[in-house]
Amino acid sequence: SLHTVTTLPTARRPGCPFDPPGELVDARRHGPISRYTFPGGVPGWLITGYDLVRSVLADQRFSSRKELMRHPAIDIAGMEIPPAPPGEFLLMDEPRHGRYRKPLVGRFTVRRMRQLTERVEQITADHLDAVEKAGPPADLVTAFAKPIPSIVICELLGVPYEDRGRFQRQIDTFLGGETSDEDLIAAYTATQQYLAELVAAKRANPTDDVLSDLMDTDLTDEELRGMALILLAAGFDTTANMLALGTFALLSHPAQAAAWRADPGLTDRAVEELLRYLSVAKTFMRTALEDVELGGQTIEAGTTVILSYNTANRDPERFSDPHVLDLRRENGGHLAFGHGIHQCLGQQLARVEMRVAFPALLDRFPTLRLAVPAEEVELRPETADIYGVKSLPVTWDV
Ligand code: HEM
Repeated sequence: SLHTVTTLPTARRPGCPFDPPGELVDARRHGPISRYTFPGGVPGWLITGYDLVRSVLADQRFSSRKELMRHPAIDIAGMEIPPAPPGEFLLMDEPRHGRYRKPLVGRFTVRRMRQLTERVEQITADHLDAVEKAGPPADLVTAFAKPIPSIVICELLGVPYEDRGRFQRQIDTFLGGETSDEDLIAAYTATQQYLAELVAAKRANPTDDVLSDLMDTDLTDEELRGMALILLAAGFDTTANMLALGTFALLSHPAQAAAWRADPGLTDRAVEELLRYLSVAKTFMRTALEDVELGGQTIEAGTTVILSYNTANRDPERFSDPHVLDLRRENGGHLAFGHGIHQCLGQQLARVEMRVAFPALLDRFPTLRLAVPAEEVELRPETADIYGVKSLPVTWDV
């Protein structure tokens, strides 16, 4: 029989900051696809099985287009959703999507990102120096997890050094998930304004960065601004939360942290396992463009399907002991970066950042531990698109 889920799919298990809510794990036990009742009682679909999530992501009959997202709560309000603005390719299908993704792909290859390793090492070392110098306790969100990816993305986009503070504050307000609508709109407008100025400046005076590289294509300034916004929004908050929540997970599993300290050869596998285990980008949606048979159900054209990446990454049919954090785990293939045409463009960059930052932190502070009881670590609200902690108070022996 078809199982119905009512828990918000973006929630976490109460009292356990790393696990999907029990109801979603239960839903997977009933089968890979469930009925999902949206707030307001409107029926929809929720996919929790690994294979089924992956097949939807690879299926062009499921669309990412923003204007088709019929989140029933929005339908009820009778709101028309406009298509994604030029350049904001995350919420587009082919061929619009490819126009923006294709020119970026060559900038984000494994080789290019490896070339950045030294720079990431330097940025990480500078921040760890500052933490060490200030002495315990420290908040690793503000001192470590946020600044590293934000400096990297600023350098990649060619944000001038003197603008960095202003820019980071805007992004922070804009993605923090907890500001008033008014502040949110103000921060969004300011970011758009800033990016428009940045694109104009690169047009006038190209430098060595991703935006300048795109100046000799037929992309308009408006399109470039949209692309820059997507790179920022997708690249900064995700990595920052992986670093912060990942550190929290390591401090909560001291034997795992000790194993990683003792064996730097674990790094690549450990990072993949943290990605799988934490799945900070929890859910994405797709809309059926036609009637589709899926897991024995008919998804009607125009229906929006919620894909639960975090539950799929805990699927017992795909991962043995899926709820155990095991940095030695061999099987990769998690869905933390998605799959198919929208699979994370920045995944190699994110990997470089995590492969550098986690081991550097563990090495620098052999006695690193939480400075408050684990229950007191403040988590992001369950409505936040990207899961994480608001602050991470730590201490160590000096
Ligand atoms: C797309 C996760 C870091 C840029 C995605 C998607 C996921 C994801 C799940 C697919 C969304 C979908 O299926 O609709 C993550 C995680 C990260 C991370 C967990 C950090 C650990 C980054 C970084 C960048 C980046 C550092 C770039 C600078 C993008 C872009 C897309 C994307 C541009 C859209 C791709 C497209 O629509 O073709 N990311 N991401 N991400 N990510 Fe990431």
